[in-house]
Amino acid sequence: MEQLKITATEGKSGVYSELLPQLESLVSGEADFIANTANLAAALKQALPYASWVGFYFMKNGELVVGPFQGKVACTRIRVGSGVCGTAAARRKTIVVPNVAEFPGHIYCDPDSRSEIVVPLLKGDEAFGVLDLDSSEYNSFDSVDADNLQRVARIVERLHASAV
Ligand code: SME
Repeated sequence: MEQLKITATEGKSGVYSELLPQLESLVSGEADFIANTANLAAALKQALPYASWVGFYFMKNGELVVGPFQGKVACTRIRVGSGVCGTAAARRKTIVVPNVAEFPGHIYCDPDSRSEIVVPLLKGDEAFGVLDLDSSEYNSFDSVDADNLQRVARIVERLHASAV
């Protein structure tokens, strides 16, 4: 596997438009779901310097359990409906949180976290997990992140459907 190549210097749209095809190629030809989600988390963390934590939580017996991630040690389990992750899973909607202190019930895995985005991973009408990114700065995530991370979620959903 070649290393990521990101040449865009201004604006996150440029970064994502270079990144997305590289994510596709990173997972092409590999069917193992843990291997692919581990590399996707690493690639996102590497390409998005404003993300302090990037990772997945997957639904197991009705609870979100931490999966492959990059960053500091995180909460292992999150109840559906709790925190930003559990709320995004329950509503099956992307949630952008400019200031985590203002999100009722936000779960501080990392006390340095200031803003966050969570994108649900869907199979039909059900969320089977979430993609979560944190930042140690306020207002790090916007609609450009939401649109593009939803594209990443579509990749993960496809991998999940065909995983071995
Ligand atoms: N802050 C999240 C918990 C997960 S960590 O950020 C990795 C939440 O409120 O759901």
